[in-house]
Amino acid sequence: MPKILITGALGQIGSELTFALVERYGENNVIATDIRQPLNDEYKHFEQLDVLDAESFKKILKKHSIDTVYHLAAMLSGVAEKFPVRAWDLNTKTLLTVLNFAKDGLIKNIFWPSSIAVYGRGAEKEGTPQSAIKNPESMYGIAKLAGERFCEYYYKKFNINVRSIRYPGLISWKTQPGGGTTDYAVDIFYQALENQKYNCFLNENTALPMLYMDDAIRGTIELMETPSEKLSVHSSYNFSGLSFTPKELAEEIKKRIPAFEIEYLPDFRQSIADSWPNWIDDSVAQKDWGWKPEFDLPKMTDIMLQQLKLKLGKI
Ligand code: NAD
Ligand code: SER
Repeated sequence: MPKILITGALGQIGSELTFALVERYGENNVIATDIRQPLNDEYKHFEQLDVLDAESFKKILKKHSIDTVYHLAAMLSGVAEKFPVRAWDLNTKTLLTVLNFAKDGLIKNIFWPSSIAVYGRGAEKEGTPQSAIKNPESMYGIAKLAGERFCEYYYKKFNINVRSIRYPGLISWKTQPGGGTTDYAVDIFYQALENQKYNCFLNENTALPMLYMDDAIRGTIELMETPSEKLSVHSSYNFSGLSFTPKELAEEIKKRIPAFEIEYLPDFRQSIADSWPNWIDDSVAQKDWGWKPEFDLPKMTDIMLQQLKLKLGKI
């Protein structure tokens, strides 16, 4: 059994990944951490940790005899544009800290998420291949690309078992997203149920790669459990599922909530979205570790509305 520590465990991904890992490896093998305190007592093992504080980080790893770190704490693309220096520090320096923990023998395995944000203008927009040129334009994308290079460097130079996925925009109902460019695809469901109206910060034809959270969590655990000899990518894997525009998502919601209306008021995130792919080619992940998504747009829309109705007390 791995002994796992998750950073940023209270975020959109961590709040679901933590419990998937608990279910798989047992509650005593999973330690959730975050800079914030949880609002309830659903975490059996929780430590407050600012990942920028490397000494406290090390102490917690030792205290719990951790061998595997899922390093999720980061600043997302929209917020990172507002605080670029802080974003660089949080998103790159703390990854180096974790990689050095592995180099020093403190831990053995690392999962670290990259993003479709590593791609920029110049890469193929449709079916962006694994090896397409990477010219990120946002600070978030620049930091993610640096992180990918760190991962491959530590793998090649020090044989560190670090694995990574380029997540697309993740759609989920449990925890609100933390300030990314793809957040509209979650906000829209809340507003559709609360107000039957949504002001979208991207324009109607902005296609982006997306994925329902259950697929993302399953794919992450599958990657971490794949025998190392099967893995050919040591930077980060393209990882794909859905691709749709705000207009297509709105039409899908309107089929279920006929009164729903959408208006398009693009803001600074439009330029970030315009630099990202419409959809990415994940054939290397399919070949190396059998990645296959299960949720299409109608299935994702059904489950989001059903779960949010329950969460918001609408049924
Ligand atoms: P999120 O913003 O929802 O959560 C991040 C968590 O990190 C928060 O709970 C926050 O409190 C915590 N945090 C912030 N600063 C911290 C610090 N100094 N020390 C410890 N914790 C700190 O983010 P998320 O959506 O869960 O994303 C997790 C990872 O996945 C990030 O690396 C992100 O870049 C990546 N990713 C997410 C998406 C997505 O659509 N959600 C897509 C691509 C990549
Ligand atoms: N969902 C993320 C963001 O928009 C993509 O990495 O920041």
